[in-house]
Amino acid sequence: MKSYPINSINNLHKISVAPMMDCTDKHFRMIMRKISSKALLYTEMIVAQSLIYTEKKEKFLDFNPEEHPLSIQFGGDNPKILQEAAKMAQDWGYDEINFNVGCPSPRVCSGNFGASLMKEPTRVARCIESLKKNCNLPVTIKHRIGVDDEDSFEKLDSFVKEVASAGADRFTVHARKAFLKGLNPKQNRRIPPLKYDVVQQLKKINPKILIEINGGFTNIDQCIKALNDLDGVMIGRSAYKYPLRWSEIDQKIYGKNISSKKASEIIFSLVPYIEKHLKNGGKTWDICKHLINLVEGIPKAKIWRNTISTRSLKQDLSMEYLIKLTTELQKEGY
Ligand SMILES: Cc1cc2nc3c(=O)[nH]c(=O)nc-3n(C[C@H](O)[C@H](O)[C@H](O)COP(=O)(O)O)c2cc1C
Repeated sequence: MKSYPINSINNLHKISVAPMMDCTDKHFRMIMRKISSKALLYTEMIVAQSLIYTEKKEKFLDFNPEEHPLSIQFGGDNPKILQEAAKMAQDWGYDEINFNVGCPSPRVCSGNFGASLMKEPTRVARCIESLKKNCNLPVTIKHRIGVDDEDSFEKLDSFVKEVASAGADRFTVHARKAFLKGLNPKQNRRIPPLKYDVVQQLKKINPKILIEINGGFTNIDQCIKALNDLDGVMIGRSAYKYPLRWSEIDQKIYGKNISSKKASEIIFSLVPYIEKHLKNGGKTWDICKHLINLVEGIPKAKIWRNTISTRSLKQDLSMEYLIKLTTELQKEGY
């Protein structure tokens, strides 16, 4: 299995695709990897404690070798458990470990992890030290610019400095604060205003710390602009909903001399992967629920998506039919 040496991964995260529960599973990541061979991909958040105690570790940890470079995101607050989980991630072949201090879900916060941990920088620092103890992978952190009324720049800066001293290799900063009470996770991704200037200022006064910005990026030109001041840009919802709009990442961000791919090309290239998944007992919907997002913004896109969804949900989508529909897309130049 190909994995990346510690130093090189720090160049690969110039663009990354955010960890997103129920979205960034291994199938979506395979699709995204067809779009960019370089962008850093993340798993969905895995609760470290669940990983340690489950007998079905492969259900949480398995990925396809093509997905590298790949970061595994852990949620948790128990240093001992995180240490064990980190060793497991390394043995399984991941390239990086990311620690979630940004999720404001009540379920997550009631376990005292996710965004509520921003109020406990020393505990976060211990967690980072533990993640690094038995493992050689880079350990990074994803967090907000503040939580509740603890949202001053001084608090953010001292949080980052303390966690950096504990060894965190990169900070992904979602440029909005989180409200732990009163807003649900979805509202917490929309209502608190985006404050890019706060993240820029953080980088300015901590020039040696690697800082990646996240929140609200919808096109590549915005990312290129942000990369003037920051070390990376993480894209979430826009990559999931409109994956093909990101098809120029390799050319425009990583300087690769290749032409951007069309939807039909990507779908054709995934056929052997889908066939293998079906052979192993999987369902077409597992992959097609993500794949349909490739076809948007073109005539008949809605019909194409509806046909694929309805048929795959009824387990009535043969590969021949998928190829036939995709050939029609190709003939129309998509
Ligand atoms: C459906 C969904 C699930 C998410 N799950 C996670 C998660 O597991 N871990 C995490 O750190 N952030 C999670 N997030 C937050 C994203 O990683 C990202 O920080 C947020 O969507 C803002 O970026 P965007 O504006 O580019 O979407 C999730 C977001 C969405 C939309």
